[in-house]
Order: sequence, then structure tokens, then C-alpha cells
Amino acid sequence: MDQNTLKAARDVLNNAYVRYSNFHVAAALKMKNGVIITGVNVENASYGLSNCAERTALFTARTQGYTKHDIIEVVVTTKQEAIISPCGACRQVMHELILPDVPIHMVDVNDNVKTMLNKELLPAGFSEDDL
Ligand code: THU
Repeated sequence: MDQNTLKAARDVLNNAYVRYSNFHVAAALKMKNGVIITGVNVENASYGLSNCAERTALFTARTQGYTKHDIIEVVVTTKQEAIISPCGACRQVMHELILPDVPIHMVDVNDNVKTMLNKELLPAGFSEDDL
């Protein structure tokens, strides 16, 4: 894991809009050209409309013209003592927008890291090829 990717995620962690859960999450995507795209969770009074950090980052990357061929690693971090992993909805979006062998690094507040490949997060996932 590139420490710059982790730092980029930590740098935006306080921008998470978490007035309902107070559970800050930040994601950072490292691109093959060296650019790092970040995202945070953004909640809503209509709770189900909340957007996770991973999807915020992925949609931002797409907006800026990047595709799944550009993303070489992902970091997800929080302020928690325990490592968290992406939710099911994010795994589905990651399945489509990140290549299967890209490492997803999950990092807790104490720098403990768990790394899984994107394909390991959603085995047998539904994809554009199934349509
Ligand atoms: N959340 C994320 O942003 N990413 C995850 O991987 C897990 C959950 C957010 C959603 C919600 O704003 C808060 O964390 C608590 O569930």
C-alpha cells in the first residue's frame, strides 16, 4: 500500500457528512498516472439516501474521466479501532468499476491493514456481462 494513498484518505476523513451516524469513512483511489481521487460518506435526513465513501470516490473518478483500467489500488479508512470492509452496495459498484485483481486496503485508526482483492469481496457477483 502506498502511504500517500492512505494519507489522502485520512486528509479528507473529517469532511465526511455524518450527522446521523457520526461514523466517518474515507476512500482513496490511486490511479496509474499517480493521481489520487478521494471520497467520503455523505449522509441524509432520509437515511437511505446516504452515500458511502467508496461510491463517492468511484463516481468522482468517473466524473473526472477515469475508467476501471486506471485504478491500481484502493484504501478505505475510518476513525475506528476495528477494520471495516465495504458494504454490499459498494461491493456491487466496485465489481463493475474496479478490475478484479486490484487490492482493496482496509485500514483502521491504528494503521492495522487488511488487504483483499476486489474479486474476493464479491464472488460470483452480477455484472454487465450478465445482461
Ligand atoms: N459507510 C461507508 O461510507 N463505507 C463503508 O464501507 C461502510 C459504511 C458509511 C455509511 C454510513 O454513512 C456510515 O458509514 C454508517 O453506516
